[in-house]
Amino acid sequence: MTGKPTLAVVGATGAVGAVMLQILSQHADIWGEIRLVASPRSAGRKLAVRGEEVEVVALSEEAFDGVDVAMFDVPDDVSAQWAPIAAAKGVVVVDNSCAFRMDPDVPLVVPEVNPHAVRIRPRGIVANPHCTTLSMIVALGALHAEFGLRQLVVSSYQAVSGAGRAGVDTLREQLSLVAGTELGTSPGDLRRAVGERTGPFPEPVALNVVPWAGELREDGWSSEEMTLRDESRKILGLPRLPVAVTCVRVPVVTAHALTVHARFEDEVTVDRAREILATAPGVVLYDNPAAGEFPTPADVVGTDPTWVGRVRRALDDPTALEMFVCGDNLRKGAALNTAQIAELVATEFS
Ligand SMILES: NC(=O)c1ccc[n+]([C@@H]2O[C@H](COP(=O)([O-])OP(=O)(O)OC[C@H]3O[C@@H](n4cnc5c(N)ncnc54)[C@H](OP(=O)(O)O)[C@@H]3O)[C@@H](O)[C@H]2O)c1
Repeated sequence: MTGKPTLAVVGATGAVGAVMLQILSQHADIWGEIRLVASPRSAGRKLAVRGEEVEVVALSEEAFDGVDVAMFDVPDDVSAQWAPIAAAKGVVVVDNSCAFRMDPDVPLVVPEVNPHAVRIRPRGIVANPHCTTLSMIVALGALHAEFGLRQLVVSSYQAVSGAGRAGVDTLREQLSLVAGTELGTSPGDLRRAVGERTGPFPEPVALNVVPWAGELREDGWSSEEMTLRDESRKILGLPRLPVAVTCVRVPVVTAHALTVHARFEDEVTVDRAREILATAPGVVLYDNPAAGEFPTPADVVGTDPTWVGRVRRALDDPTALEMFVCGDNLRKGAALNTAQIAELVATEFS
């Protein structure tokens, strides 16, 4: 093929789509035409990308005519229906929903960890991992490559934007409802202040922490906990990796954080772990507690890397490390990783 490949952004008008258009405007200009696609509701709207106004077209088979690569940033059911239609037309689909992530014929790709997987895609679809997995997996992949991961114990502190625009709107509304209210004196005082306005969360999230993300699965697990285990295993190529995980929602707008206890094959040293993390692509080591330096969601929001701090050897196990990781769930956790996968695929067209 000569010339630059044509890209379609399906779901260009959504929360992830908006970040995607920013990223496409900032990254090296490897694409020919960029076609913007959304539901018929948005057809005719104009959105800015690469400094130009581009008209949004409605999702249809014809929208994929002449397209080489399509990023899908749409709800699961829309991806499940339309990604195979695009793939049947010869388009390579990079899908951000959870419709295909655990399909054995669909690679689940993090370019810093398993870039080779992108080339084996029997269904013509490549999946982008969940934002919570992506917030830790780049740092973990770098440590695994050297030390060999044997066990993972993780707790997440997930931002409300992980639940889309509805999550952010709910936190903002609840914060306005509790402003000026005296709380923290009796059980249920926060619930009374917020009433039924809990949005996509089972409990008030403003001034609270909620040990739940996703839907109920067998034996009391949440769907996001199962996702983090299953996706970590698939990306790292460790199908039996023991993973213990608790997902928690916190009143942060954007940027997920996780505490990680990682046990490796043999004894590890903090010095070597720090060297690995300090040089790993896509990772920033920010770890000097004596100077009060460690990453927080407020520090890392709007940035691309995975930030790592509080690196310690486990108190009772010389083969294990403890650390705190943070990443922007809308950038590396969604749009950026999808863009990086699409850029990997684009090299096949040059
Ligand atoms: N938010 C996150 O942190 C995050 C992280 C990782 C992955 N994801 C995943 O990324 C996807 C998009 O999430 P989001 O938060 O950006 O959602 P969103 O803000 O609700 O946006 C949804 C997008 O899909 C389009 N759409 C909806 N129904 C459609 C249809 N029937 N045909 C064509 N287009 C349709 C919408 O177009 P209109 O504007 O025209 O309705 C909009 O562009 C989801 O699968 C989500 O699970 C989200």
